[in-house]
Amino acid sequence: MTDQKHRRKAAQREPVEVTYAEELKTLAEADPGPVPPGWRLSPRAVEKFVMGDEALGIEPKFVADRAMVVRIIISLCTSRGSLLVGEPGTAKSWLSELLAAAISGTSTLTLQGGAISHIGQLLYTWNESILQSDGPGRKALVPSPLLRGMMEGRVVRFEEIARCPQTLQDALLSILSDRVAVIPELAGEDGVVLAREGFNVIATSNSVDTGVHQMSAALKRRMDFEEIRPIRSLSDEIAVVLREVTKANRRAGIDVELDRAIVEVLVTMFHELRNGQTLDGRSTDRLAGAALSTAEAVSVVHAASLNAWYYSGSDVTIEQLMQHLVGSALKDQPDDRRRLRHYFDTTIASRTGGAWEQVWALRSLIQ
Ligand SMILES: Nc1ncnc2c1ncn2[C@@H]1O[C@H](COP(=O)(O)OP(=O)(O)OP(=O)(O)O)[C@@H](O)[C@H]1O
Ligand SMILES: [Mg+2]
Repeated sequence: MTDQKHRRKAAQREPVEVTYAEELKTLAEADPGPVPPGWRLSPRAVEKFVMGDEALGIEPKFVADRAMVVRIIISLCTSRGSLLVGEPGTAKSWLSELLAAAISGTSTLTLQGGAISHIGQLLYTWNESILQSDGPGRKALVPSPLLRGMMEGRVVRFEEIARCPQTLQDALLSILSDRVAVIPELAGEDGVVLAREGFNVIATSNSVDTGVHQMSAALKRRMDFEEIRPIRSLSDEIAVVLREVTKANRRAGIDVELDRAIVEVLVTMFHELRNGQTLDGRSTDRLAGAALSTAEAVSVVHAASLNAWYYSGSDVTIEQLMQHLVGSALKDQPDDRRRLRHYFDTTIASRTGGAWEQVWALRSLIQ
């Protein structure tokens, strides 16, 4: 039997606190404090975990305005929740994972707004067999991630909160303002769960597909909003894409060389088509059906890397990249093909240097 067959199957994606366990340990040891009640690290150490710290060897993980990150961290110290709103693929979920891991040591207490349709999923259900044998009691209670977060004093991630039905959003109100959940089936103290220090909610919501404006107004008042914008600087975005793809490739066990010049053309195209403006300031059509986010750029370059590795056994070519870019940019909007062609004809046609001429030579892919 080959080694391959014996190779232990690894998790496809580990939680942040596992991937960066060493960094979290380093930060805890070097932490100058003070640490808020119930937190693992001080706000300054949490900030370093997210933004990076060269002296301590902490990798930068999220590119954004530092002041905004500090605001979010501080709002998690208060008794208000934090809501990250923004376009798809701007790393809202990623930021919430990083913060939960650094503050509470776990990023896995997570609820998905769209998957919650009744109160049991939001708060608790019962273990039927214990319920039958012992009757209702704390032992028979199966707490949701939200209730566990309250009991254990940890940050709970609430993904796509606006997709959660309004009546259930309202059930969050007393939890956020009074920090208490009541279990009517249990008598006395057992029926009252008081949130421990360290509990808070960090929620995300996509500003494109589900309107945050439809969210319960009372709930909105109990959360601090922060708009997460796409990365503004092209060179920052290129650096993020290179770093993230290198990590994804390593996880996938593939070893291909990434040519900076071709990553640069891809990120530039995403940047321009997303902003509706070329780097030299001319306006261009935005695509209607594609997000063209940083996350999408990462997945296009990763797919091209896999293609290169499994099909040609060589480094990524511009053609492989373009093939995957077309799949990502042209989704269900027929007019987007015309818009992309127009962008090629008006912008790429006249570009020279880097890999631009090769991109132009591949224009038949979008005919
Ligand atoms: N500002 C940024 N800094 C670092 N990485 C970023 C940034 N923006 C995007 N990324 C990359 O994109 C990925 C973010 O995807 P994520 O799923 O967190 O986005 P999202 O905003 O939650 O999207 P959606 O609205 O579709 O849920 C990250 O893993 C990272 O690779
Ligand atoms: Mg998300």
